[in-house]
Amino acid sequence: MSPCLRPRPFHKRGRCASLLDHGICARVLWIWLLLPWLLGAQTARPKYVPPPPEQPIPFSHRQHAAAGLECSKCHTMPDPGDFAELPATSVCMSCHSQIKPDSPHIQKLAGFHDERKPVPWKRVYRIPDYVFFNHRQHVTAARAGCETCHGPVAERDVLRKEKDTSMAACMDCHRSNGASLACNYCHDQR
Ligand code: HEC
Ligand code: HEC
Ligand code: HEC
Ligand code: HEC
Ligand code: HEC
Repeated sequence: MSPCLRPRPFHKRGRCASLLDHGICARVLWIWLLLPWLLGAQTARPKYVPPPPEQPIPFSHRQHAAAGLECSKCHTMPDPGDFAELPATSVCMSCHSQIKPDSPHIQKLAGFHDERKPVPWKRVYRIPDYVFFNHRQHVTAARAGCETCHGPVAERDVLRKEKDTSMAACMDCHRSNGASLACNYCHDQR
C-alpha cells in the first residue's frame, strides 16, 4: 500500500496536507496537480485540418502506392517545374482497361477518358496566384521530400490539406534553411 493511503496514527494525521512536505504524499499530489496541465498541453491548440474535398472518383493514394507506383509516375513536373501535374486519364487507363473494369468508379473514369475530358479533381493545396512557387526547385535544390509539405500521402486513402502552406509556414522553413525572406523572393518575381 502506498504510504499516502496507509492509515496513520492520529497524531500524524494532517501531515499529508502540508504540500511542501518532501515525502511521497507531496509527490503524488503534485502529479495530480500537473495532470490537467500535461493533458492540456497536448490538446490546447488542435491543428485545424479542413475536411477533404469531395472528389468525383474515390482515388486512394494508399492503394496505388501499395501497387508500387512512384509519385513521379502520375505527377510529372514539366519545365519550368512550377507545377506538379495531375495525371491524364490515359495514365489511369493504362492499367484500368484491365484492372477492375466492372467497378462503377472505373466505369466513370473510363467515361471521362472516352469523352477526352480530364477528371474534374477538386484541388487540395492551393496558394494565391500572386505567390511565386516552384516545385522542382524545392524538391531538388531545397531537397524537400513531398511529405514535408503534403504529409504521408502514401498512407492516405483520402487527401486533405493536412500541412500548412501559409506565408508563415514558408517563412519558417526559409529561415531555418538560410533561404531568402525578402518579400520579392516570393512576391513579384525578380
Ligand atoms: C499501375 C496500375 C494502375 C494505375 C496506373 C492506376 N491504377 Fe487504380 N488501381 C490499381 C490497382 C492494382 C487497384 C486495386 C484493385 C483491387 O482492389 O484489386 C486500383 C484501384 C483503383 C480504384 C478502386 C476501384 C474499386 O472500385 O475498388 C480506383 C477508383 C482507381 N484505382 C482509380 C485510378 C485512377 C483515377 C488512376 C489514374 C489517376 C489510377 N487508378 C491509376 C492499379 C492502377
Ligand atoms: C496513380 C496515380 C498517382 C500516384 C502514383 C500518386 N498520385 Fe497524387 N494524385 C493523383 C490524383 C488522381 C490526384 C487527385 C485526387 C486527389 O486529390 O486525391 C492526386 C492528388 C495529389 C495531391 C493533391 C493535389 C492538389 O493540391 O489538389 C498531392 C499533394 C499528391 N497527389 C501527392 C502525391 C504524392 C506525394 C505521391 C507519391 C507518394 C502521389 N501523389 C502519387 C494521382 C496519383
Ligand atoms: C516546399 C513545399 C512543397 C513540396 C516539397 C512539395 N509540394 Fe506539392 N505543393 C506545394 C504547394 C504550396 C502547392 C500549391 C501550389 C499552387 O497552388 O500553385 C502544391 C501543389 C501540389 C499539387 C497540385 C498541382 C500544383 O502544382 O499546384 C500536386 C499534385 C503536388 N503538389 C504534388 C507534389 C509532389 C508529388 C511532391 C514531391 C515530388 C511535392 N508536391 C512536393 C508545396 C510543396
Ligand atoms: C522545406 C523547407 C521549405 C519550405 C516549406 C518552403 N521553402 Fe521555398 N525554398 C527553400 C529553400 C532551401 C530554397 C533555396 C533553394 C536554392 O538553393 O535555390 C527555397 C527557394 C524558394 C524560392 C526561389 C526558387 C527559385 O526558383 O529561385 C521561392 C520563390 C520559394 N522558395 C517560395 C516558397 C513558398 C511560396 C513556400 C510556401 C508555399 C516555400 N518556399 C516553402 C525551402 C523551403
Ligand atoms: C517564402 C515565401 C514568402 C515570402 C518571403 C513572403 N511571402 Fe507574403 N505570402 C506568401 C504566401 C505563400 C502567401 C499566401 C498565403 C495564403 O493565403 O495561402 C503570402 C501572402 C501575403 C500577403 C497577403 C496576406 C493575406 O492575409 O492575404 C501579403 C500582404 C504578403 N504576403 C506580404 C509580404 C511581405 C510584405 C513580405 C516581406 C516581408 C512577404 N510577404 C514575404 C509567401 C511569402
